[in-house]
Amino acid sequence: MTLPAIVVLISGRGSNLRAIVEAAPPCRIAAVISNRPDAPGLDYAREKGIRTAVIDHTGFTSRDTFDQALRAAIDAHSPALVVLAGFMRILSDAFVGHYAGRLINIHPSLLPAYPGLHTHRRALADGVRLHGCTVHFVTSTLDSGPIIAQAAVPVQPDDTEASLSARILLQEHRLYPQAVRWFVQGRLVIAQGRVCVDRSVDPSVDRSIDAGVGAAVDGVAAVGAVGAANWPGTVALVNPPLDVPPD
Ligand code: GRF
Repeated sequence: MTLPAIVVLISGRGSNLRAIVEAAPPCRIAAVISNRPDAPGLDYAREKGIRTAVIDHTGFTSRDTFDQALRAAIDAHSPALVVLAGFMRILSDAFVGHYAGRLINIHPSLLPAYPGLHTHRRALADGVRLHGCTVHFVTSTLDSGPIIAQAAVPVQPDDTEASLSARILLQEHRLYPQAVRWFVQGRLVIAQGRVCVDRSVDPSVDRSIDAGVGAAVDGVAAVGAVGAANWPGTVALVNPPLDVPPD
């Protein structure tokens, strides 16, 4: 059986990579590519017998030449999907355009709130009551693009950056494998900038041998009408009931 290939890009510890490997969505991880030679996630990939590559950004004089080398390394595997999992490089418009509709990212906030770095610290400083994570298609604007799924967690009064990020990371590890699964099953549809999950597909049916896996999102713009029954993708509000003080 031919499984669709995915390529995972990392820069660090690779816990989301691990979550995807362990969840075993119906795809083949053709390669894990890091821009940092010392990324711990590379060791994990090697242990699992997954092919790895390093495209060290420090060896390039411009973003464009780095992106071109990265693109060549990715395209050698003809992936149906490219998964950014803690990949800490800003990608050029040309790179993002090349992978339009088959490049996804996980970001540790409820986008569009808190794009960029230090999301947990900023959320705590603002006193927000809910924080979370988002899986989204990548567009050329940083940490934006059609949202596939989100998970929210309550912020506790005694939270620190470390405790909040740990609680959210648990949800990232649920959310990202699920989004990858939907994609490789060909169930994600982008219409008018919003993502729907095709629920008409029996999830027990493995469609991974379809030649057109991912085709549903190739035309990022309009893919026709999407029934309300297919909305939402998922919003996993994973929390105990909020503690509302009496009037
Ligand atoms: C995660 O928090 C992810 O949301 C962000 O970078 C972190 C990567 O962690 N984009 P890991 O390398 O997957 O453990």
